[in-house]
Amino acid sequence: MLAPRGPVVTRSVVEVALGERSYPVIVGAGVSAELAAVVPPGAKRVAIVTQHDIPVTVNPGLEHRRFVIGDGEQAKSLVTVGHLCSQWAQWGLTRADAVVAVGGGMVTDVAGFAASVYHRGISVVYVSTTLLGMIDAAVGGKTGVNLPEGKNLVGAFWQPSAVLCDTDTLATLPPREWKCGYGEMAKYHFLGGGDLHALDLEDKIARCVALKAAVVADDEREGAGRAVLNYGHTLAHAIEIAGAFDLRHGECVAIGLRYAAEVAYRLGRIDAARVAEHEAVLARYELAWTLPARLRTDELVDLFSRDKKAIDGVTLVLDGPRGVESVRIDDTTMLAEAMEAVR
Ligand code: GLY
Repeated sequence: MLAPRGPVVTRSVVEVALGERSYPVIVGAGVSAELAAVVPPGAKRVAIVTQHDIPVTVNPGLEHRRFVIGDGEQAKSLVTVGHLCSQWAQWGLTRADAVVAVGGGMVTDVAGFAASVYHRGISVVYVSTTLLGMIDAAVGGKTGVNLPEGKNLVGAFWQPSAVLCDTDTLATLPPREWKCGYGEMAKYHFLGGGDLHALDLEDKIARCVALKAAVVADDEREGAGRAVLNYGHTLAHAIEIAGAFDLRHGECVAIGLRYAAEVAYRLGRIDAARVAEHEAVLARYELAWTLPARLRTDELVDLFSRDKKAIDGVTLVLDGPRGVESVRIDDTTMLAEAMEAVR
């Protein structure tokens, strides 16, 4: 078990600037030891939400109790949220108290959503323990659970009051979880991240967080600009649905990034060198960009218009002369032909 440690040697702090709802994202080795300092003042009790297999122990410095939720997409449900809220009520958790979620994106999404509705909203702090969680799910306030009808269909924007990204917790991260995080990290290269490869792990994470924080500060509720965070995600979501989730999210994003580059190229938005740059970035992270053969092109293109981010027709987030932006596309034949690049 990873227990809270002594003084933190290096750390980076990124602020998510949202007025009175602003909060710090603290990145570094051992920063989970700072939990007591970021639990909102006034809280007398803390509900710690985690999963059985997360080898991280935290100490919020107050009376606390651990609530364990299940693994996987099935447990990311309203049933789990209802169960958590009932347990909190039985324990006597008040609206002045706080929730601390310790885990990856599934835990922070579920605990964050439960915190957003319990007593109409109580404070939540995230201790993120996966690379994917640190650079995406824990930052920006999206929370939610699945319905049988689709992923993340019920949720709320509910900002945490602090996020701790303790890089020590990544020591036990399985190789496939690293890949998953790298798929998301590759995206940031094209959102102004520059050469992330040149940075050490803490700086890589802090840089991705800073890029995401800037986007969220500009467009918290995804009116327009926040959609750039979905670069590579339209095909990724379609693969996840059509492939019944046997590829991990970051692996799907990697394929989606190469595909988005191909579509941008076919639309004359980027040149061949920029497509090659996408391939080079993915290769540096040892990410594959080949679609499983069993996934049919027509089914995937059809799923584009049913993406939960799509409001009217097919919208892809594409690279181009002004950088990455949302582009409405009517030529579904081209979208199908571009799929050859990832076959
Ligand atoms: N994961 C995309 C977003 O937070 O908007």
